[in-house]
Amino acid sequence: MGRGLQADVSAFLHAHNRAHTLAHVHQVAAEAVRLAQHFGADPVKAEQAGLLHDISAVIPNTRRLEEARRWGLAILPEEEAFPMLLHQQLSAVMAREIFGVHDEEVLAAVACHTTLRPAAGKLDLLIFVADKIAWDQAGSPPYLDDLAAALDHSLAQAARVYLEYLRENLSGLLHPWARAALIDLLD
Ligand SMILES: [Fe+2]
Ligand SMILES: [Fe+2]
Repeated sequence: MGRGLQADVSAFLHAHNRAHTLAHVHQVAAEAVRLAQHFGADPVKAEQAGLLHDISAVIPNTRRLEEARRWGLAILPEEEAFPMLLHQQLSAVMAREIFGVHDEEVLAAVACHTTLRPAAGKLDLLIFVADKIAWDQAGSPPYLDDLAAALDHSLAQAARVYLEYLRENLSGLLHPWARAALIDLLD
């Protein structure tokens, strides 16, 4: 099953000229499988969510708001201001509608991979963390050492390291799910 989805995602992203995204999702999927094996989560679900998490990269930012409305997604003011934030939910819709993935755990992890969410499950935490380890920008992430050290303890602590980094670097513009997730993890 993993092979089939891998081939489908590769073909889809190739057809849309998203070689950069393709390399990134393969890295995230590999990292997610590694974390799943280490933390006792389902590696098949981890791989699926990793492969699909950024599939909506094919939708340009200028069209994300309109696509989210078309799919009837609930749109927060922060997402209206920064439609990039909608790509996590759009990826979940595309995973279901185009790639035929109906596993709720996989879809939920895809839908919150950028911001996390309060009461996050193991797969949510795992995909969130894998995406931050295999980040899609040049160089090494500034939070990587702290995050790796926190991973010695738990996925939740690693997620908290990244959310705190976000809070300190976004000058107050934290997505409400991220804010709620952080409060949750600080408990
Ligand atoms: Fe993403
Ligand atoms: Fe990503």
